This record gives sequence, structure tokens and C-alpha cells, in this order.
Amino acid sequence: MEFDRVGLHIEEGFALLCFESGEVLSGHGSSVLPWRFPGPTLGRLARALPAQFDVTVTIEKINESLTAEAYRVFSQVDALDLSPAYSDISVAISEDAELLARIDELPRSKRQAGFLYAAARYVGAPLQSYAEFREHLLQHWDVVERLATERTMQTNDPARLLAILPILASIDGPIALVEVGTSAGLHLNLDRYSYRYDDGPWLDPDDGPSTVRLECSTRGSVPVPTRIPEIAWRAGIELSPLDLSSDADVAWLRALLWPDHPGRQGNLDAAIAIMRQHPVPIVKGDLNDRILEVVAGAPSDATLVVVHTAMLSYVRQPEAERFVETVRGLDAVWIANELADVVPGVEHTGPTRESFSFVVARDGVPVAISHPHAAWLRWLDADETSSTADGVDVAA
Ligand SMILES: C[S@@+](CC[C@H](N)C(=O)[O-])C[C@H]1O[C@@H](n2cnc3c(N)ncnc32)[C@H](O)[C@@H]1O
Repeated sequence: MEFDRVGLHIEEGFALLCFESGEVLSGHGSSVLPWRFPGPTLGRLARALPAQFDVTVTIEKINESLTAEAYRVFSQVDALDLSPAYSDISVAISEDAELLARIDELPRSKRQAGFLYAAARYVGAPLQSYAEFREHLLQHWDVVERLATERTMQTNDPARLLAILPILASIDGPIALVEVGTSAGLHLNLDRYSYRYDDGPWLDPDDGPSTVRLECSTRGSVPVPTRIPEIAWRAGIELSPLDLSSDADVAWLRALLWPDHPGRQGNLDAAIAIMRQHPVPIVKGDLNDRILEVVAGAPSDATLVVVHTAMLSYVRQPEAERFVETVRGLDAVWIANELADVVPGVEHTGPTRESFSFVVARDGVPVAISHPHAAWLRWLDADETSSTADGVDVAA
């Protein structure tokens, strides 16, 4: 694929790559949309661009309706397989000049479909009919504007634990667990949930089946866990922790969850109930400011494990690089479950069969691809795993 002139715009964790033809690629951070862009990923291309291309064309000159394009792309990529309701609404919004104009008045990072739909669900907009959705949303637009200044993307999905449990279960315990970007901290109670892969047996906590019941299908040779890891100590780091005693925070958490799987909402509610019984310590602050003091509190007789899922795409590249450097310097197992190409130095270079997915990496080496909401987990073949640390391939 060759380009003469392109516009590149990366701001507040949302990236748009625009071609003179009018085509637009979008994604969080430097994520990749392989179905439209089979060559280098957006992140790698972005880094390569200044040297290779004349990056002078502004986005506005290329395409006047970036928001429309972003919603169209969201419909065809992000939501296509995950949520027919969000996908249909996104197409309609991309052709709705009045609503697009309203959306364009929101802060840029709050114009993204994921945020707008959380706000829409928060105000109770029905998703079945676009006309009713639109009418309801516009009637409550003052609340949407308020949410856009007060709230951020903080989806806390216990199901994502299914993607990292095989690694956690393979670690000699007990584990001292630190989750960075923990939102409400629901992942930190992972030993209090039940898990099942495919139609295998349920893996339950020692005291019996949990009310949180997480299941996914597997692809490839997933090392299906046979035990729930022992968590001896746990702590979270979070820019703005959600308070589960606040009705508004819980309503926002519920609204953030996509309506793509009937069991997800029930599991969220059950995890919230467990958290109220077993609260976990969450340190408020930025990952780079807090990581060293938090890990210093971990007991020395447990294996320190630092995890993050769906977090690093909200962190700018220099801060992400600093964080990764710090974590690599710790005596810890490091598990990342993030959009492709957002973890500095971690690249999944094998054939990507899944269009919108996360890369699961252990100590910087990709080991699996996961569905963003953990509906499935695919373990990588040996010839698919590679990683670059400091630009050097470290694993075949
Ligand atoms: C999309 S949520 C994911 C939450 C959880 N890890 C999960 O997968 O369910 C991302 C979280 O990272 C937090 N976050 C973003 N930037 C951060 C930073 N610089 N330091 C700490 N937390 C951050 C956000 O506030 C948000 O709660």
C-alpha cells in the first residue's frame, strides 16, 4: 500500500489516519484495523511517517466530517461482531448531520462512540429503534454534556480475566497482585469468581461456585487453567477510582458495559456485590506516579504480578514507555491484555486473523489474542509469538 500524502492526527488517545482519497482509519491510541490495513500497523506507520511522507495535509481538508467517518468505522469494525445494536446506531449517526453537530461540540475524547453510547445508556435511551434512541438522547443532551465533562471511559469487565487466568494459574503462588488502571477494582477479586472454558468443568473458588460466572470459548492450544490462583495480597492503581457505594458511579459502570451479551450485566452486578463484601485497596493516581510505592507494599514471600487490561490505550506514548520501562525493571511477572500495538516494545507480528482484538503478553512476549470482551481466547502458535524490546526481536 502506498500513499502520497496523508493526514495524521493523534490526540487524547484517539487516532485517526486519513488518506487523501477520503478513507479514514481510526482507533484508540495506535491500534490497528487489520481488515482495512493489512500492512504495517497504524502505530508503526505513525512512527515511520515523518521520515517517509509529507504529513502536511490537515484532516479537515481531507474530510469535513471526521466524526461521521469515525462512527462509520466504529460500526464496521469495533461493533460489527460485538454489538449489532451499536453497529446499526453508528451507521445512522454517521448520516445524521444534526446529531453529529452536537457530538462535535463535546470534548474530542468524548466524541467517540463508546463514550456516547455509555452516556446514552446512562440516560436510558432505548437501543432498538434509532428514531427513539435519537429523540431520547437529544431530550437528555444536557446530561450527556455533563457526563462528558465529569466521566471517562472506565469499563470494568470481569470477563477479561478469562484472557489472563491461564497465565496467572501457571505462576507458582501465592501471588501479590497489582492491577494498574483498575477502574472499580473488580479484577482484583479474581479468586472469588467461577470460570469455564468451552464446555469444560467449572473452576470454582474453594468455598464453592461464585455468583460471578465467566466463560469463553478457546481457539488454539489454550492452557486451560485447572486451579484458581492463590491471591495473598492485592492492590489497584487508578486515576479516578469508582466508588461502589455511589449510585451514580455504579450506574456509570453499568452503562459502560456493552449490551452484547446477556450474562455480562449479571456478572457485573454480582462482582460489585462481592466487592462490597471484600473491598480491595485502590490507590488513586497516575500509573507512573504510583507504581513503585504500590509494589513496595507487596509481601516479599509472594510472587509479584503486575497486570493491566484495556488500559494502556488511554495513556500517551511517552508515559506508556516510561511505565513499561519501570515494570520491566521490577522483579515481577508482567501481564498485559491490550489492543494490538499499544504496549511499547510488544508487537504481535504473526498473522492476525481477528480484526478487533487484544494481545495478551507475558513479560512482553505475546502469547494469545483475546476478544475485547473475552468471548473467546486464542493461544498463539510458537511461530506467531514475537516481541521487540528496544527494537530487537527477542523471541521467535
Ligand atoms: C477501560 S478501563 C479498563 C478497566 C479494567 N482494567 C478492565 O479491563 O476492566 C481503563 C482504566 O484505566 C484507567 N487509567 C487510564 N489512564 C490511567 C493512568 N494514567 N493511570 C492510572 N489509571 C489510568 C482509567 O481511569 C480506567 O479506569
